[in-house]
Amino acid sequence: MVTGCGAYLPERIVTNDELARRIDTSDEWISKRTGIRQRHIAADGELTSDLALAASRRALEKAGCDGGDIDIIVLATATPDNTFPATATKVQAALGMTGGAAFDIQAVCTGFIYALAMADNMIRLGQANRALVIGAEVFSRILDWEDRGTCVLFGDGAGAVVLEATEGGERGILSTHLFSDGRNYNSLFVDGGPGSTGTAGYLRMAGKEVYRHAVVRMAESVDRALEANGLSHHDLDWLVPHQANLRIIESTGRKLELPMEKVIVTVDRQANTSAATIPLALAEACDDGRIAKGQLVAMTAMGGGFTWGSALVRW
Ligand code: UT7
Repeated sequence: MVTGCGAYLPERIVTNDELARRIDTSDEWISKRTGIRQRHIAADGELTSDLALAASRRALEKAGCDGGDIDIIVLATATPDNTFPATATKVQAALGMTGGAAFDIQAVCTGFIYALAMADNMIRLGQANRALVIGAEVFSRILDWEDRGTCVLFGDGAGAVVLEATEGGERGILSTHLFSDGRNYNSLFVDGGPGSTGTAGYLRMAGKEVYRHAVVRMAESVDRALEANGLSHHDLDWLVPHQANLRIIESTGRKLELPMEKVIVTVDRQANTSAATIPLALAEACDDGRIAKGQLVAMTAMGGGFTWGSALVRW
């Protein structure tokens, strides 16, 4: 069961107009094609672990517990502080958690769904009682700021949820479905970076191809989740989709026959924060009372790999 959600966005907001003063783009192009109006950008020296820690503290506070009560941290990120150790271990130490285990998961924009699945499965197996699941990214550090086709699309941020074992199983994660297809490795990737290439790298994307897959895969994976639970889209109270492009979000909503009033949207103010978009959206919609106890919430994402997947949750 999800018992607390927290979010953190860096203080600095960069508007489309500000970008248009630096590169050949315009507020009109960005808002019309993507729905994005602004993004938050981390300060110099502000790292993924700092964002993750701030979001985690808020989630723990909402759940009424502290680091010592957590036995597993799963942090989804494609922008870890260092190649190793896992950024999750830095968060673990900062939260004063000395037992249990903390590790990172890498599934880019689908990372939060993967992390949630991992934590949920560990709880189901009795390997953990209370998990902290985080999505945290500083994509601003891996963007080619000369490439207008990508740099306008992303932002920095972090979101976290506390997941607890429950008796009975009426509320909580009903199912998770994970998919990947490595044949699309080169359609959305960083051309270097920490690891075996030994070079620094920047994000590269075949935008149209990613778009085409996103509109199909996100709706498809929600359908799979509903089917597996004997439910239909009529039963859904909320769709919390990965936030990459408002047109992708609207198309996913249409495919699932959901009115936009049932779809949580943050992309206009936060742009694409990769693994952080879903927990950021959850935190916002829980804080303002839209997502409430007993409701049925579907989350879905698609990203580099390609990876995609869904989670169905009875709140
Ligand atoms: O999290 C998962 C990862 N990301 C996504 O899901 C993103 C998926 N893809 C998309 O959202 C869209 O493909 C984009 C928003 C990236 C691009 O939209 P599009 O409608 O596919 O545009 P395009 O790439 O076909 O470009 C159309 C035109 C091109 O000019 P020409 O060749 O028609 O003269 C681009 O050079 O728009 C131009 N363009 C821009 N113009 C102004 C591309 N980026 C910009 C820009 N400002 N920032």
